[in-house]
Amino acid sequence: MQKAILDIDPGIDDALALILALSSPELELVGVTTVAGNTVLEKTSLNARRILEYVGRGGIPVYAGASKPLARPLSTAEHFHGSDGLGDAEIPMPQEPPRPEGIRFLAETVKKYPREVTVIATGPLTNLALAFTLYPGTAELVKSVFIMGGAYLLTPHGHGNVTPLSEFNIYTDPEAAEIVFNSGVPLTCVGLDVTTNPSAKMDRKRYAEMNALKGRKAELASKVARYQIERFGEVEVHDPMAVAAALKPELFNMVEMKVQVLRNNDASRGATVAVKPGEGERGNAKVCVDVDSGEFWRLLISRLSQP
Ligand code: RIB
Ligand code: CA
Repeated sequence: MQKAILDIDPGIDDALALILALSSPELELVGVTTVAGNTVLEKTSLNARRILEYVGRGGIPVYAGASKPLARPLSTAEHFHGSDGLGDAEIPMPQEPPRPEGIRFLAETVKKYPREVTVIATGPLTNLALAFTLYPGTAELVKSVFIMGGAYLLTPHGHGNVTPLSEFNIYTDPEAAEIVFNSGVPLTCVGLDVTTNPSAKMDRKRYAEMNALKGRKAELASKVARYQIERFGEVEVHDPMAVAAALKPELFNMVEMKVQVLRNNDASRGATVAVKPGEGERGNAKVCVDVDSGEFWRLLISRLSQP
């Protein structure tokens, strides 16, 4: 069992990621940190509490992190996630509020358990960047970081979803992403190259399969995902795929790459430029270039159906 922190901006697919992590015996979820991204920090933090309490895991603490990107105004995505960020599915508000100081929690937990904590980040990388910057030595003590982020042009699906070149999490905070990619932390990137692979999508048929499952986890997943299936005919599975990469890396083909994050103020803002390392060079990330979509879906469904 590996200690894990989820750093999230729920967000419908973040909710699916959190439910998958909670249902996975491979992970000991020591805490959740939240960041502004899909919606404002107040809502992403409340949503993390709403999710945990709905499935009876309110004992897992939620710590609110950064309320805005390092150097840019926040641009949210309520059109994809609902005005409350959780599919406007009327999930009950939490009994326990989120705690403050998410950056400190990240740094202090990694220090308390040196080289034992895996961070799975499925939102903008602002919290990790601040933890690495404000608490020197933190990057060296993290066991591993898995991110949902980037569009690496390494598959036909590897183009951006904000601009043709950039993916939302990196686009929202390119300065933070650059800090994380240059931190030396063991980094695995689950980008749009695999998360938008048509064979991995949750279409209406797969949604119906999930909707038929019993139990609070599947019920919550179906409730929040309904917002997207009704409007777009499919549910984004970006973030649960990042959790799956931490749980079962064998489901993915990964390539070591040198990734540079562009911080320009044009259509290339937040682009993740990936090149193969030269002879004798090391890359700074393992980038997913393929996924066993069937096995990913079976993993998600089997874990959601657990009581
Ligand atoms: O580009 C997709 C990513 O942006 C996902 O993490 C989604 O939740 C949003 O944060
Ligand atoms: Ca997210």
